[in-house]
Amino acid sequence: MSFFTSLPGFREFYPAERTIQNHIFDAWRATALRFGFQEWDAPLLEPLELFIEKSGAEIVHQLFNFEDKGGRKVTLRPEMTPSLARMVAARANTLRRPVKWFAIGENFRYEKQQKGRLRAFFQLNADILGEPSPAADAEIIALCIETLRALGLQADDFRVRVSDRSLWFLFLESQGVPEAVAPAVLAVVDKLERSSPAELTQAAVDALKGAPAVDPVALLARAREFAAHDSIESLTAFFANASEKITVRLSEWRVLLDTLRAMGLADFVVPDLTIVRGLAYYTGFVFEVFERTGDGRAIAGGGRYDALVEKLGGPEMPATGFGMGDVTLKNLLESRALLPAADPILDYYAIILAPECRPSALADVFALRRSGLRVGYSFKEGKFQKLIQAAEQSGARKVLIYGGDELKAGIVKVRDTRTRAEQIIPASSVLAFATNAS
Ligand code: HAM
Repeated sequence: MSFFTSLPGFREFYPAERTIQNHIFDAWRATALRFGFQEWDAPLLEPLELFIEKSGAEIVHQLFNFEDKGGRKVTLRPEMTPSLARMVAARANTLRRPVKWFAIGENFRYEKQQKGRLRAFFQLNADILGEPSPAADAEIIALCIETLRALGLQADDFRVRVSDRSLWFLFLESQGVPEAVAPAVLAVVDKLERSSPAELTQAAVDALKGAPAVDPVALLARAREFAAHDSIESLTAFFANASEKITVRLSEWRVLLDTLRAMGLADFVVPDLTIVRGLAYYTGFVFEVFERTGDGRAIAGGGRYDALVEKLGGPEMPATGFGMGDVTLKNLLESRALLPAADPILDYYAIILAPECRPSALADVFALRRSGLRVGYSFKEGKFQKLIQAAEQSGARKVLIYGGDELKAGIVKVRDTRTRAEQIIPASSVLAFATNAS
């Protein structure tokens, strides 16, 4: 590797890529603002400790961490949720609830670079804190969907797969799995679709070391059966003789799905209990967004994390939110031909044929710029043919021609770059002409 290349997994944004990124960020910000979310931000570099235990083992292996010159253990942030929880914890008593905040920020994870996965990527984060009801989960899922719709994606393009860690915990409890080992069992469940049967059995045996009464093979089979249900009706039947807690939880599922239906979003959402999420802090409804066909990487993921703010020293503060990445999203938009066409860079380009014309040309250029038009001009005088070529290549719709003869006659020529038709206007009326024409 040459020293003069960027690091693996880090992108460079030439203007064409940056235009696309701005298009995505604009849709993210505009949609979040329409939902009444306020923008926040946090440092890129954080104390290592913030992520140890809070985010879970998977992410800890992926940290870009080091010791700073003051001997502090620090890391580039792999996600924004712990920073958000810390900030909300610090001002919890003065913040008006529910807190509805969004952020657009870069995150860093030392992952193996592959399609849809990089080491530096941007996320939209949107979170609601201080509201425990499924209404907040529905609002978060709705924002996630509407953000994708704002970019032109439709129900045919993606699905929100909604699951529930609390229902999983209740299911495991009903199978005699002690609370203490339930998170380890869920980590095995997370691999149900990805690992071989032998690997899964071994992982289940390891996870259940502290629960000798539970048969790992039987539990895995039952977990598969549970995870196969994709409607509340069939889950209700599965849990015949359900405990009170399970009955209450299933009614919360109904509230969530009914709310999304009332929002007109039922087509975008499907219950899918195979989703359990890799991050450790989730406690309730969780979800991931995938391209509808194909099994690519998730476009977004999130869920409820009711204990994190308290763990970071704050008061009790239920919370739910999601992160949407720019990498998989851009790939999906590209595959659906939904990326924006290149933006015309300029409205006007002024060509200056003689030095004595430069003062009046620059006066006009700057008047036009101050009026909000995008205007370029030739830095050097030169032959008409050469300058007009540069003007046409600039992408400007119109060219202003400042020549010695025109200066004497008190006029400026305006040329249309597409038709090449020319108009003559008084030199004193360039601003009036341009602002009327645009
Ligand atoms: P996450 O599932 O780790 O959740 O990431 C959310 C999204 O970020 C993923 O669905 C994916 O689009 C993108 N993403 C993650 N890692 C990478 C990567 N290495 N390269 C490219 N894109 C990536 C979280 O980060 C949670 N903090 C989200 C959240 C907010 N939960 C509650 N509030």
